[in-house]
Amino acid sequence: MPKKKILMVCLGNICRSPLAEGIVRQLAADAGLNWEIASAGTGNWHVGQPADKRSIAVAKSYGYDISKQRAQHFNSSMLDEFDQILVMDKNNLRDVLSLAENDDQRKKVSLFLSENLDVTDPYFDDQLFDPVFQTIEDRAKKLVEELKVKLG
Ligand code: 4NP
Repeated sequence: MPKKKILMVCLGNICRSPLAEGIVRQLAADAGLNWEIASAGTGNWHVGQPADKRSIAVAKSYGYDISKQRAQHFNSSMLDEFDQILVMDKNNLRDVLSLAENDDQRKKVSLFLSENLDVTDPYFDDQLFDPVFQTIEDRAKKLVEELKVKLG
């Protein structure tokens, strides 16, 4: 069975999706799952940069090291490369789906949170990093269980 590949997507790939990447990678490894986790942004402004200092700090405070991750730009080949693509908000969903060319690609893409909710973009508000971390970590725990069943 080839390694399952999961991609987290947000706008800048420096605040939300790097948190989701680092948390899911660690939870999957802790659960003994041989998954490959990555993240990307629909915007290209931060390509090659580390995550936002505030995301690195909040992750570190809860025991996750995301300091070595680097931002990359989402591209249409990722719709074939990954088995599951989880996006942080509905703008990301629209932008990613706009690049999809077939139903195989479209069906891989879903919102990271259940119930049609967005992960709030914390970029312009320092106070949001802690609650955003909590939201992502809570969901990540359930998501790993769901993806274990879905992806096998
Ligand atoms: P992210 O947050 O999508 O969670 O990484 C943002 C980071 C940077 C920008 C916007 C959102 N920006 O406009 O540079």
